Amino acid sequence: MNVLVLTGAGISAESGVPTFRGADGLWEGHAIEDVATPEGFARRPQSVHQFYNQRRKQLQHADVAPNAAHLALAEFEQAVMSPHTADDHESANQFLLVTQNIDNLHVRAGSQRVLPMHGELLKVRCIDTDEVFDWTDDLSLDTPHPQDPSNPRARGRLRPHVVWFGEMPIGLDRIARAASTADVFLAIGTSGLVYPAAGIVRQTSPACRRIEINLDDTPASSVFDETIRGKATVEVPQLLDRLAKEWKLG
Ligand code: OAD
Repeated sequence: MNVLVLTGAGISAESGVPTFRGADGLWEGHAIEDVATPEGFARRPQSVHQFYNQRRKQLQHADVAPNAAHLALAEFEQAVMSPHTADDHESANQFLLVTQNIDNLHVRAGSQRVLPMHGELLKVRCIDTDEVFDWTDDLSLDTPHPQDPSNPRARGRLRPHVVWFGEMPIGLDRIARAASTADVFLAIGTSGLVYPAAGIVRQTSPACRRIEINLDDTPASSVFDETIRGKATVEVPQLLDRLAKEWKLG
């Protein structure tokens, strides 16, 4: 059994991380072109840093933690990938969790095969060398370079390791391969408006069983075989339980 999962901001909403669109969404009050494009960063780097500093701080707030949906996915991955769970032909199962979220809640929940296609908030990247560093603090135009802290000219050469509009998402080849061989595709808490993520469902084969979980209908809903309306924390554990029973997983 090959399982491909795509998650969006909706899965983290009940963990206290705001979604992008809709009332109280993150883009409310922020022009995307100002805070989420390379051009915006070139124009006003300090205010882009402030935007991500705030989010980095918020992500590390004690109240923000993986919820029942994140935890159920981690547990499901473990069951699918258990050595005792081979399918009828005894071939190895595969599992990939592609997330558009830049929070680290899937990893904190225990998921192992996670591909954060839009980058990671708790990482920064050197503008000159593309080297990536773990990062929990604020960034500014004065931040010393971790590898060259005493060099004043290396200051301020770090940027958030997030994919901005106009930049290439991470891991597209791997995602396309996983989509083409997926037996099951789950899309959870994503508005289906941002490509290429929104196009992954169409890269799956006609034999693939496609299931969407969202509070509301999305522009992609008609492409799915099953659409489940409700909160991720309720619907994801229920669905995965049902699939585990169907597949007789551990
Ligand atoms: P959006 O904010 O566009 O959509 C969130 C979706 O989650 C909506 O369809 C909601 O109906 C749904 N939702 C909200 N709360 C939910 C809950 N508790 N349970 C289930 N569903 C819920 O977020 P994304 O689709 O992730 O990209 O946005 C995709 C990309 O657009 C983001 O990664 C970001 C953004 O611009 C970049 O920054 C490159």
